[in-house]
Amino acid sequence: MGDSRPSIAIGITGASGAVYATRTLAALLERGAHVELIVSDYGRRLLRDELGDAAAVERLMPYLTERYGAGVAAGTFTLHSNRDLGATLASGSHGCSGMAIVPCSMKTLAAIAHGLSRNLIDRAADVMLKERRRLVIVPRETPMSLPQLRNMVLCAEAGAMMLPAMPAFYQQPKTLDDLADFIAGKVLAALGFEHDLYPAWAGRVDH
Ligand SMILES: Cc1cc2nc3c(=O)[nH]c(=O)nc-3n(C[C@H](O)[C@H](O)[C@H](O)COP(=O)(O)O)c2cc1C
Repeated sequence: MGDSRPSIAIGITGASGAVYATRTLAALLERGAHVELIVSDYGRRLLRDELGDAAAVERLMPYLTERYGAGVAAGTFTLHSNRDLGATLASGSHGCSGMAIVPCSMKTLAAIAHGLSRNLIDRAADVMLKERRRLVIVPRETPMSLPQLRNMVLCAEAGAMMLPAMPAFYQQPKTLDDLADFIAGKVLAALGFEHDLYPAWAGRVDH
């Protein structure tokens, strides 16, 4: 209570691209944010499958420190169970100013599009929409079916920002981290944070 730091909810679901989630989390923590973290069952599996056991949810803070540096200690996070629909985040009275779901599976996208609220990620997203707060959805799938495309439109119509995991190449990325930085930077900007995760377009490609 009385904590004036920005509070942001992050949902991690079982779509490919765990590095987008860890980079986004680290960047928010580096900026002193308090993160309300929810990881679905397949999100947990994804962290381990794509990044190794060291990135398991229970070891996330040491992993982020090792991977992104001690600056992540500027922020804090609270881990919520995705099954806990009685968590503070499930209510519009919680002061969370925005939420990003990164990466977002087609299943969770469908649940948000149709207001199902069957788990805490779905419900917290629904709260963001009904309270007219920022909701950033980072879907990852290709190709996409017509229902998936329609679900993106439904979410956009409801006020969410659709921010597909589509890194650009004009900034001449050299590493996978450069690509992750690009998406994390887009998410931070959408949530209202300043960042320098990728250079602004300068009117031409620098070689
Ligand atoms: C390694 C792995 C990668 C996956 N990648 C994707 C993906 O890129 N996009 C997607 O929509 N689902 C993907 N899935 C399937 C989802 O994880 C699955 O539909 C799951 O039920 C999503 O549940 P959640 O949204 O609660 O995490 C993947 C599953 C696994 C195991």
